[in-house]
Amino acid sequence: MAIKRVGILGAGKVGIVLAGLALKAGYEVRISGSGSVEKIALTIKTLVPGAIAAENKEVVENSDIILLAIPLSRYKNIDASLLKNKLVIDATNYWWETDGIREEVLDPDSTSSEQVQAYFNGVTLVKTFNHMGYHNLQEEARPKGDPKRKALFVTGNNHEAVDEVAAFVDSMGFDQEVHYDLVDGIMTEPGSPLFGASLNHEDLKQIIDHFDETEFGKKIAASKLKHA
Ligand SMILES: NC(=O)c1ccc[n+]([C@@H]2O[C@H](COP(=O)([O-])OP(=O)(O)OC[C@H]3O[C@@H](n4cnc5c(N)ncnc54)[C@H](OP(=O)(O)O)[C@@H]3O)[C@@H](O)[C@H]2O)c1
Repeated sequence: MAIKRVGILGAGKVGIVLAGLALKAGYEVRISGSGSVEKIALTIKTLVPGAIAAENKEVVENSDIILLAIPLSRYKNIDASLLKNKLVIDATNYWWETDGIREEVLDPDSTSSEQVQAYFNGVTLVKTFNHMGYHNLQEEARPKGDPKRKALFVTGNNHEAVDEVAAFVDSMGFDQEVHYDLVDGIMTEPGSPLFGASLNHEDLKQIIDHFDETEFGKKIAASKLKHA
């Protein structure tokens, strides 16, 4: 499927930056917040002119790919059937300051993206854009081949969808380290040396290849939050 229209759920820091990158890459962009269009219309017009402010339903119905850019603890506020049959990028992380106690919002024994995938029945989920800070996403996007280009980790269970999202990430200005297992998203979550870092592909891959030797990797290995 050729991606032409990008839908972003979440008009906060990361949603707005991703909207700007998508516009720059030539996509048609729709973006929503938790409430009415009026609540975000001026912000969108000012910060990302050209993006269309809308409500969730309109965003989803008119987009080829959806970016989930909301606080993780809020995903169940979205109707589970709304995203059915959609290709969805999960850019969310569990972040205790925003989301509260992990056990209260997530099953302690599986990764957040697995739980998002399970909730949105019929969705093809790929995790990326989650581990780089929004200001780095904004400032570090570069054309392919630029020696200063940074990389993002991309992973999901559906091979074809992961490759499609990797191509999308490329168009947004980043190299990609591609895996084919959604559980591997844990390697990019808060606590990982990758989280909040802005690295080129080689340095990012180095951390992933030696993940089990990192303090976070050892913690994950001792928990039930396994990666592949
Ligand atoms: N900040 C970063 O550097 C960064 C980088 C990568 C990934 N992330 C992840 O991206 C997600 C968003 O982070 P953020 O920093 O952008 O948060 P933020 O600035 O607080 O923005 C969150 C946005 O999500 C909206 N929202 C909440 N519930 C919604 C719903 N049910 N439907 C549609 N929109 C909804 C909020 O709308 P209202 O204001 O109307 O509630 C707000 O526009 C988090 O999971 C975070 O871990 C953040």
